[in-house]
Amino acid sequence: MPRLHDKIALITGSAAGIGLATAQLFAAEGAHVYITDVDGAGAEKAAAELAAKGLKATAMTVDVSRGQDVNALMRAIEQQHRRLDVVVNNAGINIRTDFRNMSDADWTKLREVNLDGIIRVARDAFPLMKASGRASLINLASIMGHRGMRTLAAYGATKGAISALTRGLAVEYAPYNIRVNALAPGFIETALTERVLRVKAFSDALLSQTPLGRFGTSEDVAQAALFFASDESAFITGAELAVDGGMQATL
Ligand code: NAI
Repeated sequence: MPRLHDKIALITGSAAGIGLATAQLFAAEGAHVYITDVDGAGAEKAAAELAAKGLKATAMTVDVSRGQDVNALMRAIEQQHRRLDVVVNNAGINIRTDFRNMSDADWTKLREVNLDGIIRVARDAFPLMKASGRASLINLASIMGHRGMRTLAAYGATKGAISALTRGLAVEYAPYNIRVNALAPGFIETALTERVLRVKAFSDALLSQTPLGRFGTSEDVAQAALFFASDESAFITGAELAVDGGMQATL
């Protein structure tokens, strides 16, 4: 039996990177996946590729920083399925900036997507997750919520808040049998990190601090998301799993 047989799963920011790999894995494990992204064409393409393999996928254009988009998404899922079993709160951006010179506009944008968006989805999906009777919410935090690095202070602040949100919501949603956990990836090769990982001196330095000696793949993170999504983690809530090749464990 596939591990997500008949589950309805929403993954935000799933036209590319970690979100796309997660949607592909969940669909292969039997879920009907909602592939949602601000890049609507990318979402359509990803869903069409899954449908061509006989898997279940619906695409929608959703900018998580826009309340009306998230509202329309929840209404569509309610009409189709009346419940949501898995939500992967994945959509996120990074704006690398020297903190002292960061503009208000940059901070607002970062906060609106990485924090307001995550909070909005976690809140607005509640009635549908409650209707599931056995739901799992997975938030994408980051190693940067726990460690400091130049140009990443503001990004790290949004991610640290997601770790705190995860623990609070785990307690608040537990009476409804909604589990809430977080993933804290280290350095994963996606469009988000491509530009910096191309700088050899920087990537060599990072690799020297990664016990497993490589960067992660989107699939590495998707497999961890699958664990939290499936009933194999039925007694786990409020946890955060590092997917970082051991980076957080090193001195
Ligand atoms: P990515 O840039 O490869 O993909 C992000 C996807 O989200 C894109 O398809 C993009 O169009 C979409 N997106 C951006 N803004 C959006 C919005 N307002 N509404 C809806 N969709 C939006 O990024 P990646 O690497 O896959 O990151 C996914 C999540 O994992 C993010 O939350 C990121 O902060 C987190 N993360 C990534 C790490 C990495 O090393 N790549 C490390 C730690 C955390």
